[in-house]
Amino acid sequence: MLLPNGIRHLPGYLDRPAQEALVEAIRAVVAEAPLFTPVMPGTGKEMSVRMTNCGSLGWVTDKQHGYRYQPTHPVTGRPWPAMPAQLLDLWRDIAGYETPPEACLVNFYSDDARMGLHQDRDEQDLKAPVLSISLGNTCLFRVGGLNRNDRTLSFKLSSGDIVILGGEGRLCFHGVERIYPATSTLLKNGGRINLTLRRVQP
Ligand code: SIN
Ligand code: FE2
Repeated sequence: MLLPNGIRHLPGYLDRPAQEALVEAIRAVVAEAPLFTPVMPGTGKEMSVRMTNCGSLGWVTDKQHGYRYQPTHPVTGRPWPAMPAQLLDLWRDIAGYETPPEACLVNFYSDDARMGLHQDRDEQDLKAPVLSISLGNTCLFRVGGLNRNDRTLSFKLSSGDIVILGGEGRLCFHGVERIYPATSTLLKNGGRINLTLRRVQP
C-alpha cells in the first residue's frame, strides 16, 4: 500500500512490555488529569472519544472557544502532568526533529467511538511531525490528502503501531473509522488508546 508522501506506518514498533509500560504511565497521567469529553466548537456536539493530555501544553476544545492548546486542564484547572520519559525517548528516536514535543494528546476510544476526518493544524510549528501511537484494540485508520474531498485509503492500526504524519503529509486529512472489539488483550476493559505527540511552538 502506498501512503501519501511524509506519512509513515511502523507496524509493531513497540513490543508488548513497552506497550504495558506505556499503559501504566498513561494510567498515572489520567489519575492526575482525568479524561474529559471534548465538544465541537460552535455546535457543542460531543465527540465520542474522551481525552486528556500530558506535557507543558494540552489540546482542548469547547463550544465557546474552539480548538486550542493551553497549559492547564479544562476541568481541574491544574497544569498537565509531565510527559513520561518513554514518550520523549520515542520522539528522539523516530521523529527526526531537534526540539522535544510539548504536548501529548491522549485519546481514549471505547469500542463504539470513532473520529471524523480532520487535519491537525492547531500547532504553530507545522514543520514538526505528529507522532501517533496505538495501544489496545485494532482500529481502521483512514488517510486522505490535503483537501477534504481527496481520495482516502484505509488500513488497520494494531497495538504497538506507530504512524508519523510529517513533511508533505503533515496536513493530510485523517480519521478513525472504527474500532474492532476484542482484538487486543492489552486493555482489560477493551477500547483503544491513541497518543499523539506534537510540537506546538516553533
Ligand atoms: C487523532 O487524529 O488525533 C487520533 C488518530 C488516532 O486515533 O489514530
Ligand atoms: Fe489528528
